[in-house]
Amino acid sequence: MASLTIRKLDDALKAYLRLRSAKNGRSVEEEVRVILRELADAGTEPTEALGAGSLAVTAPAPRAASAAGGPKVTLIIGGGIAAYKALDLIRRLKERHIQVRCVLTKAAQQFVTPLAASALSHERVYTDLFDAESEFDAGHIRLARDCDLIVVAPATADLMAKMAQGHADDLATATLLAANRPILLAPAMNPLMWNNPATGRNVLQLRRDGVHTVGPNAGEMAEAGEAGVGRMAEPTEIAAAADRMLRPPQPRPLAGKRVLITAGPTHEAIDPVRYIANRSSGKQGFAIAAAARAAGAEVVLVTGPVELDDPQGIAVMRVESARDMLHRVEAALPVDVAIFAAAVADWRVASEGSQKLKKTAAGMPPLQLVENPDILATISKLKEKRPPLVIGFAAETEHLIENAKAKFARKGCDWIVANDVSPATGVMGGDRNTVHLLSREGKDVTVDSWPVMTKEEVATALVSRIARQVGTGS
Ligand SMILES: Cc1cc2nc3c(=O)[nH]c(=O)nc-3n(C[C@H](O)[C@H](O)[C@H](O)COP(=O)(O)O)c2cc1C
Repeated sequence: MASLTIRKLDDALKAYLRLRSAKNGRSVEEEVRVILRELADAGTEPTEALGAGSLAVTAPAPRAASAAGGPKVTLIIGGGIAAYKALDLIRRLKERHIQVRCVLTKAAQQFVTPLAASALSHERVYTDLFDAESEFDAGHIRLARDCDLIVVAPATADLMAKMAQGHADDLATATLLAANRPILLAPAMNPLMWNNPATGRNVLQLRRDGVHTVGPNAGEMAEAGEAGVGRMAEPTEIAAAADRMLRPPQPRPLAGKRVLITAGPTHEAIDPVRYIANRSSGKQGFAIAAAARAAGAEVVLVTGPVELDDPQGIAVMRVESARDMLHRVEAALPVDVAIFAAAVADWRVASEGSQKLKKTAAGMPPLQLVENPDILATISKLKEKRPPLVIGFAAETEHLIENAKAKFARKGCDWIVANDVSPATGVMGGDRNTVHLLSREGKDVTVDSWPVMTKEEVATALVSRIARQVGTGS
């Protein structure tokens, strides 16, 4: 039987096979096999099956969705000479882990091909408003909404005029009119077009409508001997502007501050296999650590045994007992803020069995308890290296405020976060917390009661309170 060399097929057929295989996520060879099988099954003529008439297809259908994740941009490429730079822009956006889906206007296709945009974006490229394949689920609405930002580059004078007027007679303008996402325009045109009062009016209108712009820059034009303002901003500049809109810089009020947090329970050994513990999950302390890190602090997290992963960018020290915890806390000093959210066991057994304790006829082994070191009080009362802000947690099951006030008076810390951990609240191990922040105003204790929040929300609120007290305000 004769063998088929795809390389030797004519160009149009090769292009069609490439598009069809990309659309179906198969290799070209596999695609040919499928076509031949279909032919055999249906008794169809090869020319029909290879669909010479379909060569007008402008872009491959979707490939498998990008596994990379990250924010999504719909990039509308307008019909200007700078359209070729939009191909580089796709790469620049993808370098920043931004997913890109392209729409090409009819005029844009005079400058760049959908195939090139598709190859660079690894996505299907959209060109037609009346595309049966994408319109069955209102493609232009999806393009407008299923993204985090719409970038138009180059934004031609014509596209901006249509946007300012609310036209929607092609896929690009219909997508822009249906958008409920931020829009970033990178205008590009001849300086005379840019300086034309009509363009000026349209740009002003669009800015009033909340549309963002990057560029145009001054420089040489494609037209020989022409220069002025109208050059499209460079792809790196546009990608950076898009990135700023997608991931606006977060305020970092604790930048330069070192924050120590304890979390979780402690385990106090009875013998090599048994221990005294409590139901603390560590979630609140870990959430505070993450919030302090997000606020720019250098965070040291000392945690008892918990089933939580290390939060990103945080030095985590895992300990077992209250004595280990105190040791690690002391070693971490000096810090600007210390937050003691751990549920440290108050007692441990006086003498830990070196072997597993056995049942005996004599009855229960006597478990003599002794007090553990009080980490909060120890650090609060330090003469040297006392952190400027020491915050304790009071976990109570009854008389919450009364007990928390008593603890506040005893410990010598600056604030106490009181929370009711009685079983009905579901706080221990749960995801929500209701807290009361006790602080001092002169000799008076003030109690600030917060509404029920997730532990992350409590953490964010506490960290912003801390930032007001010790933050740099940056
Ligand atoms: C060679 C050539 C280059 C062009 N370059 C630009 C340009 O840089 N900026 C612009 O606004 N229009 C430019 N135009 C005009 C647009 O292509 C034209 O206004 C078109 O209708 C824009 O369609 P679109 O906005 O739907 O992409 C150019 C036209 C040609 C023929």
